[in-house]
Parts: sequence; structure tokens; C-alpha cells
Amino acid sequence: MGILNGNASVSEFILLGISSSQEIQVLFFVIFFLVYVAIIVGNLLIVISVIFNNHLHSPMYFLLANLSFFDLCLSSAATPKVISDFLRKRKTISLGGCMLQMFFMHFFGGGEMSLLIAMAIDRYIAICKPLHYRTIMSRRMLVAFLVLSWAIGLIHSTSQMVYTIGLPFCGPNVVDSIFCDLPLIIKLACTETYILEVLVIAESGLLSLVCFILLLISYIIMLVTIWQHFSSASSKAVSTLSAHITVVTLFFGPAIFIYAFPFNSYSVDKFLSVFYSIITPLLNPIIYTLRNQEMKMAIKRLSSQSIASWMAT
Ligand SMILES: *[C@@H]1O[C@H](CO)[C@@H](O)[C@H](O)[C@H]1NC(C)=O
Repeated sequence: MGILNGNASVSEFILLGISSSQEIQVLFFVIFFLVYVAIIVGNLLIVISVIFNNHLHSPMYFLLANLSFFDLCLSSAATPKVISDFLRKRKTISLGGCMLQMFFMHFFGGGEMSLLIAMAIDRYIAICKPLHYRTIMSRRMLVAFLVLSWAIGLIHSTSQMVYTIGLPFCGPNVVDSIFCDLPLIIKLACTETYILEVLVIAESGLLSLVCFILLLISYIIMLVTIWQHFSSASSKAVSTLSAHITVVTLFFGPAIFIYAFPFNSYSVDKFLSVFYSIITPLLNPIIYTLRNQEMKMAIKRLSSQSIASWMAT
């Protein structure tokens, strides 16, 4: 009776995953596991080397370490469950678990986007207002940026989840993805979700599109400033900026595609959400450390110190 009149409530969702073939699932298990370990190690290395290295106690590196911390949290919101799911035949997630997954992904995702904007502002001041850099980017300003990033993540995530949590789910519960993805879950609700879909498109999609365009414009202004004012010794600044631009593009690109253009084919969305949860958090440490001489030195020093202390014990 309940099913017929549509009042039966769903207590869990079934995730379809990437493939139904056993061998491919094992392969993905191995790949995701290795990538996740690399994400943890890489980002932890950045956090530890910035905290324990006095050379790196500047606003730029503090922001970078906090970005790595966000990466750790963001990838831990869904990836461990995704990895263990690869070994399960029936991949289910409870309604509450699904809501928590979406909440944390948007919380840390929104926070990370705000932090990327803070990093751009930091570089903008350093390049376009170099004489005032120390006074503007004070410790207080830095803390304000960090608090603001957490707050924006919280507000962004809460504002979308408040409506989603109240949605009635009464029948269809199959999600064609590897984790609970907000646009996919909303479509399963058995009520008119048009307004909520518009809200999600506006808040996650348009907001990231606008932020991305503003970020690109500010980076272009910085590059032009560098080329106009410093003919020599600017290669370091240019390589820092190109690292930032790469990270910003990789972070905002998939988000814009998933949320601002909700009429993509599902396979594209699925590929992008895999990319988003696995590749992006791994790329940040790779891009920032490989392109940054000081960071590389700091990690080398750190590892030789820890080997030395390990030998001493
Ligand atoms: C974040 O930045 C602050 C500087 O305001 C720093 O003290 C803190 O260690 C950073 N957090 C992480 C996890 O690196």
C-alpha cells in the first residue's frame, strides 16, 4: 500500500559505481587506494613542512598549508567509502550517510574555493601593491581569511542541505555515481524539485563560474603587471602564478561543468565527479611542490632530518 501511494520512505540509496565487472572493480580499488594514500601523504607533507619550517612562515605558505588541509578533509569526505565500495557487490549508503557526504563535500569544497580566492588576493597584493604587502597581509588579515573560508563553506553547504534534508524520498533510490552527488539525489525526490535545482545551479554553478572568471581576470592583471614592471627576476613569480592558475582551473572547471550545466550526459558528470574527488586533491601538492624550489628544499630538509633522528634512536 505504502509503495502504491508513494508514501514509503527510502532508508538507503544504491550506488551503481563505475562498472559492474569484478575485475575492473578490483582494478579501480587498487588505483583509488594508491591515489588516496598519495593524497594523504602529499598534503600532510605540505602541512608539516610549512608548520615546521621557519623559512615558510609567510602568508602565502600558510594559505597553501591550509589549502592542503582542506584537500585532506575534502577527499576524506567520500573517498574511503568509495574505495571500500569497490569490493562490495551491493553498494548501499544510508539516507543519513548520503546527506552527511553531500554536506561535507560542499562544506570543504566551498571552503577550498574561498581559500583559493584568498590566495589570489594575497598574490595580487604582493605583486600589485608590494610596498604595502606587510601591512595589509598582517597576521590578523590572514586569520580573517581563514575564518571567512570556513564560514563561507559552512553557509554554502548549510543553505543547500537545509532544503535537501527535508525532501521526501519514496521510491527510486538508485544513484548512478560512486558517491552521493547533490544534483543526482535531488532528482530522486518524489516532489517538485525545480526551485531547489535552480538554487543548486545558482549557488554551486553560477557562483563558481563568477568566482572563476574573477580569479582568471585578477591573475591576468598580475601577469601583465609582472611583465610590465619587472623584466628580470620575474620567472619565479610567473611560475608561482601559473601554478595557482592551474590549480584554480582544475578545481573550478569540473565544478562549473557539473553544476552550471546540469543538462550534461550522466557519463560526463560521473567522470567529472571522479576527477574532482580523486585527481584535484592530488594535483595541488604535485603542482605546488614540483614547481616551487623552496617547497622542495623544505621537504628534502624535513626528510633528511627525520631520517637523522630515526638513525639516532
Ligand atoms: C593555517 O594558517 C595558520 C596561519 O594563520 C597557521 O598557523 C596554521 O598552521 C595553518 N594550518 C595548517 C593546517 O597548516
